[in-house]
Amino acid sequence: MNLHDWIDELCDVLDLEAEVDEGLLKDLTRIAAENVEHAAGPVTTYLLGFAAGSKDASPEQVEQLAALAQTLAEGWDRPAGFRDPVDIDDPVPDDSGVDHSGESLEDFEDLETARMRAVIATGTGGPDVLSVADVPDVEPGPGEVAIDVAATAVNRADLLQRQGFYPPPPGASDVIGLECSGTIAALGEGVEAWHVGDQVCALLAGGGYASRVVVPAGQVMPVPDGVDLVTAAAIPEVAATVWSNVFMVAGLQPTESLLVHGGAGGIGTFAIQLASQLGARVLTTGGTADKLAACAALGADVTINYRDEDFVEVVRARTDGAGVDVILDNMGAKYLGRNVEALALEGRLVIIGMQGGTKGELDISALLRKRGAVIATSLRSRPVAEKAAICASVVEHVWPLVAEGLVRPIVHTTMPLADVAAAHALMESGEHLGKIVLTV
Ligand SMILES: NC(=O)c1ccc[n+]([C@@H]2O[C@H](COP(=O)([O-])OP(=O)(O)OC[C@H]3O[C@@H](n4cnc5c(N)ncnc54)[C@H](OP(=O)(O)O)[C@@H]3O)[C@@H](O)[C@H]2O)c1
Repeated sequence: MNLHDWIDELCDVLDLEAEVDEGLLKDLTRIAAENVEHAAGPVTTYLLGFAAGSKDASPEQVEQLAALAQTLAEGWDRPAGFRDPVDIDDPVPDDSGVDHSGESLEDFEDLETARMRAVIATGTGGPDVLSVADVPDVEPGPGEVAIDVAATAVNRADLLQRQGFYPPPPGASDVIGLECSGTIAALGEGVEAWHVGDQVCALLAGGGYASRVVVPAGQVMPVPDGVDLVTAAAIPEVAATVWSNVFMVAGLQPTESLLVHGGAGGIGTFAIQLASQLGARVLTTGGTADKLAACAALGADVTINYRDEDFVEVVRARTDGAGVDVILDNMGAKYLGRNVEALALEGRLVIIGMQGGTKGELDISALLRKRGAVIATSLRSRPVAEKAAICASVVEHVWPLVAEGLVRPIVHTTMPLADVAAAHALMESGEHLGKIVLTV
């Protein structure tokens, strides 16, 4: 049986006939040609990616593919109807008389459909739904650049997306991943600010867990001096979130105080350093003594264990009853009332997370007496122009501090992209301190 017949057979077994067009068959053939001896694994992985990514694929087909991939991975126990792949030592010509057995990648260059590796999800659920597969490559549109990704990083929002609670905004990639570092591989029409070969990092609306990603040129930033390319993947999301919320939105001043909830997280570790370096007094909450000690080392003046201390009382005691000027909050509903209590006169509460729920009760009179403000923002859903303005401001104000080593990305661990499920499980465990980076 030749490669084409074998792939036909595979598609038959999977009942994919209706889905498989000429282009897909050629793609599969090319992949099989690259992996002649062990073609079953890559081809099946590809089909899995194809079906999972195809709007037309039924849940049954995706399930069937997942089961087949599993079967193949477990040692070539082929399902009924699945015949031998091509035998390279004893090639059998097909009916057309063409011998495909010696085909190599070069033979299929005219069938060029570039591939990239990406994390796909076989459904919604726990970390195990994630795996790496070959998927169709992405090309930059007008005003975009393509980046060959060196590394990406895990964000809380990624966990929600995996669970099906945080779909990508319209037009964004289905692939998870809000930030990356890498090398510019191609420029879309009209892009002049960047060149192919530039080493960069970028704020993404999605697509970062992949070997290539496209992003609007305004969301691309240079790698800060003194930071290696892989570590740079840990900076865009925290820098853009902290700078835009604490400084651009809440307008924290060097003479003021900031309460950072979750100071040992990715966002928290960056917020503590940035605010402290810009002269503000920083108070922070955390769940363990070790994490709070790390927060103090990063510049927090006051640390509060949220498990056994009341942060409102501590804030009052450590600010002579005045309260804090700005709060960066990751908890949402659970802390709403107590955050307002902890605010100073004309204080600003900026909510960026909902780890403590979405619906809370706000005591307007308490807020009104303080002439306070409650603001909630999401970076991902902002228009491209706003994100570009934030990135430009980050490069202007934050990058010099990073280059001087005064503010640095805190990386808990760096793992290969193939370990994406373990990386998600680690963030869910809450044992990390700072960022979790994935190398691609
Ligand atoms: N709106 C936006 O644009 C935007 C952008 C980026 C991130 N975010 C949000 O920002 C938050 C932090 O993100 P991240 O990437 O830094 O996640 P992360 O690294 O997992 O950090 C989560 C933090 O939550 C803390 N935490 C858990 N329970 C807490 C409690 N009861 N009180 C105070 N802190 C508590 C943890 O503290 P311990 O580890 O000490 O237990 C940890 O520091 C997330 O909610 C995320 O969704 C929002």
